[in-house]
Amino acid sequence: MKILCIGDVVGEPGRRAFREVVPGIRARGEAQAVVVNAENAAGGRGITGAIAEELFAAGADAITLGDHTWDQKDAGAFLSRERRAVRPANYADACPGRGWAAVATPVGTIVVANLLGRVFMNPVDNPFHAIDRLLAGPIPRDAPVLVDFHAEATSEKIAMGRHLDGRVAAVWGTHTHVQTSDAKVLPKGTGYVTDVGMTGPADSVIGREVGPVVRKFLTDMPAKFDVAKGPCELCGCLFDVDPATRLCRSAAAVRYAVP
Ligand SMILES: [Fe+2]
Ligand SMILES: [Fe+2]
Repeated sequence: MKILCIGDVVGEPGRRAFREVVPGIRARGEAQAVVVNAENAAGGRGITGAIAEELFAAGADAITLGDHTWDQKDAGAFLSRERRAVRPANYADACPGRGWAAVATPVGTIVVANLLGRVFMNPVDNPFHAIDRLLAGPIPRDAPVLVDFHAEATSEKIAMGRHLDGRVAAVWGTHTHVQTSDAKVLPKGTGYVTDVGMTGPADSVIGREVGPVVRKFLTDMPAKFDVAKGPCELCGCLFDVDPATRLCRSAAAVRYAVP
């Protein structure tokens, strides 16, 4: 099973890149299932039901989120009804939505889980304990498990990969919007990459217009960071998962330029 996990879609430019690239990837058989992080898909902040439909129509099988999950006001209602979209599992149980989902794809059911890191981020429950509880309990054992770990620190993400090695098909990082060059299969068979990178404007500071971000660092004054324009990149990681073992045969970072 060739499963493409795509990094943070940023605003309308990122959605355009997704719409232009993903249908071709699927048509050519380069990926048979697609998971996409869409926490920045709505103007850079959060997601809406309409935007989720746009991504599903363009070839997403499942959507993951992150620290921007609640930025749009209909996020709670959307996550309560849409079972193909997951929010971090280590948010409070009282939050709307689910931290994992079993999703049907053309190559069979996959389980997609989402976790949020705690290093250099706002406080949340322990993500290591959260995924252990899911794997010990509700997550079905007969489908490959794919984990989007939305986190800032490389050490926390590598540690999560090692913690889950041999227990899930793949762990990939999102949130930094910068692709790392460490895609690999870990010793016990889990596919891993520290960050898949973003899907959005290439001429930017992690998806935002350059000028205001640089000014902010020069002045420390409050500033509005609009989503940048122009040519985009679509970044992700392709995991080849063996349906028999539910572990990973190969992991390769991918990046598509979208003029
Ligand atoms: Fe994030
Ligand atoms: Fe992001």
